[in-house]
Amino acid sequence: MTITDDTTRTTGPDGVGTEFTAAKDAARRQEAREATGRRVAKLNTASVRRVIEPDTDVVGSVGEGAVYGRQLSTVADLDLDLSEEQWATLSREELASVVVAGIRFESLLMSGFAMQLAHAPSMSDPRVTYMLHEIGEETRHSRLFVRLVTQLAPKAVSPLDKGLPGWFFRQVTRFVVRRPATLFTLVLAGEEIPDLLQKKLVEHPETDPFVKEVNRYHRLEEARHLAYARLSLPELWAEASWFDRFSVKYLVPVIVQIMFDGMVHPGVYETVGLPGMATWRAANHSAHQVSTRHEATRPVLATLLGAGVLQAGRIPALWRRVTGVDRQGQPVGD
Ligand SMILES: [Fe+2]
Ligand SMILES: [Fe+2]
Repeated sequence: MTITDDTTRTTGPDGVGTEFTAAKDAARRQEAREATGRRVAKLNTASVRRVIEPDTDVVGSVGEGAVYGRQLSTVADLDLDLSEEQWATLSREELASVVVAGIRFESLLMSGFAMQLAHAPSMSDPRVTYMLHEIGEETRHSRLFVRLVTQLAPKAVSPLDKGLPGWFFRQVTRFVVRRPATLFTLVLAGEEIPDLLQKKLVEHPETDPFVKEVNRYHRLEEARHLAYARLSLPELWAEASWFDRFSVKYLVPVIVQIMFDGMVHPGVYETVGLPGMATWRAANHSAHQVSTRHEATRPVLATLLGAGVLQAGRIPALWRRVTGVDRQGQPVGD
């Protein structure tokens, strides 16, 4: 047997093609796709069984005063001398800022999913049904987030929504929704980071009972969303354009860092008389925030390594920086 083309074709001595490696690869990919499709179908069944309508199933409202313990604040390490009243204001403003960032992020996710639905080759694909379930869940719990923000009535104005940062955010959202591997990597980050923060809120004894309930409900639905993002990434990566791949390796870690740092924006600190930008910078460099960022983003890195998107030993510097690991993926700097 003579190998004429090691990636596409082998031929017999008579020159007649006997085996097509490319065809075998395509069959393997199809098999993997069908296996993923079966797992997505199970997520569809789970979504149907757990439909939650927040307007009737998660009633109530946030209480007075501080909404969580000082140990969970972005300024936990800054040794600030805040009165009880200032602390109550700061906790409510911080929470509102995070929730608003969450609503914006869910909207971005829904835009990306809608784009994928519009171009889906087959509407019978279980992924289509799943994305419709996920959009349904996002719209329902986003309505609850809107209710929570309305109750918290934040006064802080974000300087990041205006000028150059605002322009940058709009460019990034347009870029992201059109690039599936980039979108799903950010979806993973946008789900893993809040998952950790919500877990801490739910477990802490000083968290407001209604805030706990909202977070418990959200984590329940996000567990399926995370499962879908983890399942989808390997096949989206296999089909990704070179620019989408470049973006996942070198641009997404920068966006993740900005996303994490920007969840509580500088205007929040000004509501209790602190200098906005200076406190924001100090908080983002504090050991508490750095270790929370590492802990929240390492599961994203683990998924990227598991999916073959990144390789241990060759983890790009920006991913190492945001997750606090070395080239091999081992934790450093905690
Ligand atoms: Fe969500
Ligand atoms: Fe989600």
